[in-house]
Amino acid sequence: MQKRLNHVAIIMDGNGRWAQQQGLSRLKGHEMGARAAKRVVQLAKDRSIPFLTLYAFSSENWARPQDEVEGLFNLLERFIAEEIDELNESGVRIRVIGDMSRFSDHLRGTIQRTMDLTRDNEALNLAIALNYGGRDEIVRCTRRLLEQGVKPDSVTEETISGMLDTSFMPDPDLLIRTGGEWRISNFLLWQLAYTEIYFTHTLWPDFGAEELDRAIQWYMGRQRRFGRTPEQVRGEDR
Ligand code: FPP
Repeated sequence: MQKRLNHVAIIMDGNGRWAQQQGLSRLKGHEMGARAAKRVVQLAKDRSIPFLTLYAFSSENWARPQDEVEGLFNLLERFIAEEIDELNESGVRIRVIGDMSRFSDHLRGTIQRTMDLTRDNEALNLAIALNYGGRDEIVRCTRRLLEQGVKPDSVTEETISGMLDTSFMPDPDLLIRTGGEWRISNFLLWQLAYTEIYFTHTLWPDFGAEELDRAIQWYMGRQRRFGRTPEQVRGEDR
């Protein structure tokens, strides 16, 4: 039987290097990255993957040159404006994870309308991580717990999972990182505890069906043990 693949998360790295190789601006690289993101949303839906999370802007990305940060946010707003009808019609539910308190009212309004418009869709749950950092998420979660006066003894792993930005989805089964860097970069630190991680040198704008299927094939061949021995899981790994 096929192993379940409920949730794929992606660190979309390599837009800048792709642009440099082509003699284009970094922003053009991000634009092609947005096209790749659109492609992968459709591919995930076609492959009946229920949850897809894309790391679009980390809480550390504010340190980039101001024109790149502004360009990225303009691109994201444009992406939502231009693609929302098609995404909605194809049954994609969109949610944003991350700290939205730093965004303009305009962007917050756009995000809220997008989430409201697509809330009944079921074909694919797309989470876009924006101003997201795994450590920051855990800090925000801890603050909420303390504000609510939760008793120390009643805090369990489930309490924390249920308080994180990702409370509506299962932990990722597969993390893909493009761009030839072998690190997690503060993405989904809590949620990646037992995730299988696929690294590739492919730069994000070049990522498509072939590479996604290669990652899925690789994942299907993995034995997930969750702390148990190979003997214990043999025969039940699906
Ligand atoms: C990393 O490449 C990429 C980002 C920091 C931004 C990711 C954003 C997009 C793919 C576009 C918008 C996304 C959506 C969901 C519409 P990099 O700039 O670090 O590349 P480099 O390492 O080659 O410099």
